[in-house]
Amino acid sequence: MTPSEGGGNSPAGGRLAGRLVALGITGSIAAYKSVELLRLLTGEGAEVVALLSPSATRFVAPLTLAALSRHAVESEILDLMPDGRIGHIVVADAADAIVVAPATAHWLGAMAHGLASDVVTATCLASTAPVVVAPAMDGDMYAHPATQANVRLVRDEFGYVIVEPESGPLASGAVGVGRLADLSRIVDAVVAAIGDRPVRAPDPAARPPHVEGAREADLAGRRIVVTAGGTQEPIDPVRFIGNRSSGRMGVAVARAALDRGAAVTLVAASMTVPPPGDATVVQAESTADMRAAVLDALPGSDALVMAAAVADFRPRRAADRKLAREEGLTLELEPTEDILAEAAALAAGLHPRPVLVGFAAETGSLERAPDKLRRKGVDLLVGNDVAEAGSGFGSDTNRVTIFARDGAAEELPLLPKHVVADRLLDRIAAALDERDAAAQTSSR
Ligand code: CTP
Repeated sequence: MTPSEGGGNSPAGGRLAGRLVALGITGSIAAYKSVELLRLLTGEGAEVVALLSPSATRFVAPLTLAALSRHAVESEILDLMPDGRIGHIVVADAADAIVVAPATAHWLGAMAHGLASDVVTATCLASTAPVVVAPAMDGDMYAHPATQANVRLVRDEFGYVIVEPESGPLASGAVGVGRLADLSRIVDAVVAAIGDRPVRAPDPAARPPHVEGAREADLAGRRIVVTAGGTQEPIDPVRFIGNRSSGRMGVAVARAALDRGAAVTLVAASMTVPPPGDATVVQAESTADMRAAVLDALPGSDALVMAAAVADFRPRRAADRKLAREEGLTLELEPTEDILAEAAALAAGLHPRPVLVGFAAETGSLERAPDKLRRKGVDLLVGNDVAEAGSGFGSDTNRVTIFARDGAAEELPLLPKHVVADRLLDRIAAALDERDAAAQTSSR
């Protein structure tokens, strides 16, 4: 990125110099204009942090906004910042202004009634900063009494500044009032709303952290298979045995890989978190389903990350009718297939060979990890002690040690799972670059 393209090298002058502006983007077709708006705001000297509603992420790539703003994009209300703080609260407390552009009819309705189900609404609710709202939608939607009532509420009751939409051709092909206002009008409204108020958070430590050298798409063109969640082995049609797993770690790896440009196949067992929207998702209930999906996806892939908690045993026979409680139950279990070991055997015959990563959830100590790495035939093994506070199932943080084939062990501190995911992907990206460089040398 050249300085002229970047948002991080803001001019010292400018009408928004020293200000932090939160740019809330909601799911309208006009969301593509928000990238240009971000550049105009940074061009005025502002530091900008982007907040995306879930549907906005389908219109504009978070990576683009993160790269231009040099800040992680806030899109998940429950996600923590890389340093563990609660993102929307930090932004709410530090922003000098919040500008919501484009604002959809749905967002106006949610905001008018205080329904904080996305980061944009939640940040506005939690903030005393001035709020500028630039609606964009179909003309009839904007004219509807419901939308107009919501606009009046946020303007007259909350004191938000409305930058009225303009008349012109709309996405539907019709012509009417609903086009996002000219971007320079929105910037002017932000400048006017801030006026000469004091800077709310002059101390950088109180602001959202900069992403140093924002993520490049260093996995573009790579295909990565990730497994997540816990497999379930049927006892009868209603009961199963399985492993505890929320799927959070695997989903974090999948999301981080997508953000870095990879194509991701997520083999999903039972999970309590949703898969990222732009992954190819293959459902796998049992270990046998997961084995089939992994062995099918592996050829042609660059890496396999087995973050799933695979059930180690299954009932030797599953009853086809619900078992009655009075009869009592003794289960005979047999071991399941070792998916990772089979994947390693398959990978050995593939050219180029995919990088294989296993996870080892241990309790008490990680001393078995190096041996497990060799036994499974993987390149990297991520060990974590699930008995430790903050590192267990369903938590947003994890303390892991990454073991490598050469015996090296990299101990990471307690980190949010998405940061762990990025640290792991750094290692995978490096291993793939090394693999490709070695292949080039040998083919010369
Ligand atoms: N794994 C697998 N197939 C299994 C069991 C585990 O592919 N049947 C994978 C897991 O997804 C994980 C890695 O192997 O990436 C290590 O899992 P773990 O349960 O720690 O290993 P086990 O082989 O089950 O060893 P143990 O039960 O002795 O700890």
